Amino acid sequence: MNENRIEFFDTTLRDGEQSPGCSMNLDEKIELARQIERLGVDIIEAGFPIASEGDFRAVKAVSQICETAKIAALCRTVDGDISRAAEALAPAHRPRIHTFVATSDIHMEFKLKKTREEVLEMTRNSVSRARNYAEDVEFSAEDATRSDPDFLCEVLQTAADAGASVLNIPDTVGYALPNEFADLVRTVKEKVVGTRDISISVHCHNDLGLAVANSLAAIDAGATQVECTVNGIGERAGNASLEELAMAFKVRQDQMPFRSNIDTSELFPTSQLLSSMISFGVQPNKAIVGRNAFAHEAGIHQHGVLSNPLCYEIMTPESVGAPKTDIVLGKHSGRHALIARYSELGFELESEEITSIYEAFTTLADKKKTIYDQDLLALLPETAGQAAIAA
Ligand code: KIV
Ligand code: ZN
Repeated sequence: MNENRIEFFDTTLRDGEQSPGCSMNLDEKIELARQIERLGVDIIEAGFPIASEGDFRAVKAVSQICETAKIAALCRTVDGDISRAAEALAPAHRPRIHTFVATSDIHMEFKLKKTREEVLEMTRNSVSRARNYAEDVEFSAEDATRSDPDFLCEVLQTAADAGASVLNIPDTVGYALPNEFADLVRTVKEKVVGTRDISISVHCHNDLGLAVANSLAAIDAGATQVECTVNGIGERAGNASLEELAMAFKVRQDQMPFRSNIDTSELFPTSQLLSSMISFGVQPNKAIVGRNAFAHEAGIHQHGVLSNPLCYEIMTPESVGAPKTDIVLGKHSGRHALIARYSELGFELESEEITSIYEAFTTLADKKKTIYDQDLLALLPETAGQAAIAA
């Protein structure tokens, strides 16, 4: 694959769906998978088939309906998990088995109760077993960023030797900082991948709010697959947000000359669709898809945006499929925005008129949080805008 092409691996239906308030039923999962495929995602992780009958059915259904995306199913390094994942993926045109085991001392001692040798053995067995069912096998070293880097490399080497084509380095608990995460990716690239045709993937959680920054640093260091979710949903503080990653590449091509297959005009519709299915929407100030991402209330900003949107917007709302820039009238707004809004309402105001209306507007805006068009109309003296209208 072209060196600069980054593959998007969407795990909204697996890591996202397994987090509180994000359950979806089968029909919703199918509808969302169709939309995620339309968005141009390369790999859709559709579920964890051994976890429940519902997950099994969802992976099977998504495998049946998706035509272009690869479909991944998650499994532990356990024989029954792997065969169940393979069964669910049977209808997929391009199936991927994704097997994982934890490699940090804390997870091995307290959760798995396994030694390093046993984890190496589990890795070897699971990847070779998965290769009996699928050519495309991804291996993840859970809690990689809190693992001993030498042991991590040994496990990844074992997975690669057993036939894994994708080695995933998860920052499972969102602990890494961008520069150290980039160093870890470089180490794996040098010590494990070398000249082999194996992709490095990253899967970042957002516990310190660094999931997107860490993913970008990893890509700069040589990762070619990025795991993410719509609206950044996922365990605890979530996963790296798909829309933020896609727009970072698009807006900052000067620094990150990477290509993806994402049709960014589908980002906002996808975000809205997901919000309508789960129990919460996105925070208003969420980058790219939040209600305020293209809204301006401060007078200086409104003046700038009305003169040239690039003054305060680094991307257009159209480029992400969002509704047009919103000039919000409130107590921070200035005359330019007020004149523009009256003009949209059909009133071309004279400068003497605007002076007194603006005064009444600021008094009202101090009292009310939101100013509606009806409020603006009520502020107009009977003769306002008459000259312009008559002309
Ligand atoms: O966060 C994590 O480590 C995961 C793995 C299963 C990839 O979700
Ligand atoms: Zn995860």
